[in-house]
Amino acid sequence: MIQPFVAPSLLAADFSNLQRDLELINRSEADYLHFDVMDGEFVPNISFGFPILQAVRQHCQKPVDVHLMIVEPDRYIDAFAEGGASVIHVHYEACTHLHRTLTHIREVGCKAGVALNPHTPVSLLEDVLEQIDVVLIMSVNPGFGGQSFIPHTYQKIRKLKQLIRASQTSTLIEVDGGVGMKNASALVEAGTDILVAGSSVFGADDPQDAIRQLKNSHRP
Ligand code: DX5
Ligand code: ZN
Repeated sequence: MIQPFVAPSLLAADFSNLQRDLELINRSEADYLHFDVMDGEFVPNISFGFPILQAVRQHCQKPVDVHLMIVEPDRYIDAFAEGGASVIHVHYEACTHLHRTLTHIREVGCKAGVALNPHTPVSLLEDVLEQIDVVLIMSVNPGFGGQSFIPHTYQKIRKLKQLIRASQTSTLIEVDGGVGMKNASALVEAGTDILVAGSSVFGADDPQDAIRQLKNSHRP
C-alpha cells in the first residue's frame, strides 16, 4: 500500500491566527507545508514573501515546500534556501534556462521542483527529468485558492509517470489545485505522490481529520 504525502497550503490558512494554524499542522500527519509565493506578474495575484516565511519557520516543524509563481525566480533562490525552504518549485513557463535553475536549487541544498501550468505538456520535461526531484502539476490555473479541479490533469499524471519510469529517475509527482477527498484517491491511483490541499484542509470543520483522510487515500 502506498500512501501519499500531504502538503496543506498555507494560502488557505487564517493569517490573523497564523501561529495557531501552524501548530495545528505540526500536530497533524501532514508531510510538508506548501508555501505559495505570487508576484502579481506571473499570476494575477500577490500573496506573501520573506517576512511571512520567517514567521512560518519560527513555528512550523514541517519541511516547507515553496511554490514560486513569480517571474525571474533565479533572483530569489538563494534567499528562499536561506529562509528555510526544503523544496523550491519554479514554473517551467518562467524559466529560460531551466537546467541551470534546477542545478542552482540543488547546489543551495534544496530539492528541485518544476511546476507546470495546465496548458504545458509534461513531455517538455523529458530531457531534464534527472535534474528534477518533484514535478508540480497544476490542476487549476495558478493564482488563487478554492478553484475547481481540471479533470485533464489525470492524463498528465499518467503520461508523466510513464516518462519517469522510462527515464528511471526517482522524480515525484505533486498535484496542486482543487484537491480534496472527492478526487484524492483517483489522483493517487493515477500516480500522484504528493497532494497539495488548501481549502479542503483549512475550510474543513476539523482540518487535522481532513489531513488524515487525505493521507489515507492510497493505491494498492
Ligand atoms: C494556487 C496555489 C495552490 C492553492 C491551492 O495557485 O498554487 O497551492 O493554494 O488551493 P486549493 O487547494 O484551495 O485549490
Ligand atoms: Zn501552490
